Amino acid sequence: MPSFKSFDRRGYRTVGAREGYAVWSATYEHTIKHDMDSRLLESIGTVDWPAIALAADLGCGTGRTGAWLKSKGVREIHGVDLTPEMIEQARARNVFADLRVADVAATGLPAAAYDLVTTCLVDEHLADLRPLYAEASRVARSGAAYVLVGFHPFFIMRTGMPTHFDDKDGQPLAIETHVHLMSDHVQAAHAAGWRLTEMHEQVIDDRWIATKPGWAAQRDCPISFAFIWRRD
Ligand SMILES: C[S@@+](CC[C@H](N)C(=O)[O-])C[C@H]1O[C@@H](n2cnc3c(N)ncnc32)[C@H](O)[C@@H]1O
Repeated sequence: MPSFKSFDRRGYRTVGAREGYAVWSATYEHTIKHDMDSRLLESIGTVDWPAIALAADLGCGTGRTGAWLKSKGVREIHGVDLTPEMIEQARARNVFADLRVADVAATGLPAAAYDLVTTCLVDEHLADLRPLYAEASRVARSGAAYVLVGFHPFFIMRTGMPTHFDDKDGQPLAIETHVHLMSDHVQAAHAAGWRLTEMHEQVIDDRWIATKPGWAAQRDCPISFAFIWRRD
């Protein structure tokens, strides 16, 4: 697996996910680019959202994905995240029936219980994808879907930019970022019993550049991706 160090062009001070998101939680909702995942989620064609009785969002953060799922008719959603400060914001959204502080690789959620599992913009913080896909598979019931949206490795490698934000002093703070090749996802997912049913990629287009003109040099570069897996 490639190391982010081989690509890093920013050299920002870097902290682990738990420490970084505790700080970012104060401004996350205003600074995260919703186009990272919103258009990818809208393009999914093989999940019948209103038919989902119970979903688990692994790495739920402030609950953006949970709120989106609820708006699509998913009936009950459970959320798991490493960072209590992010979970507190998810709680305030009032869309989760259950929220717990835990690692995505060891959630403590019941086995074979969920019709849908989601993980959005989390995988780049994991050194190894295999425990994530295995845990998603453990909690999924037979026939469940797993939607994983990620920060695109092409973008990370091309720009040398880690996941980062500006702290209260305006200084960039990076959160430990790992580069996973698409084949890493496929191998980890297959090992956990997932079968690919859909894949989408979001590129930097006019809409992105209108809100982030500094990224014009990245036009047409993929910025995020969505895998939709199914457990037979
Ligand atoms: C970029 S945020 C994404 C949050 C949410 N899914 C969204 O799309 O807005 C990344 C989240 O992953 C969580 N996270 C990172 N590593 C984790 C781990 N090993 N287990 C559980 N959560 C983790 C962080 O605490 C943070 O809330």
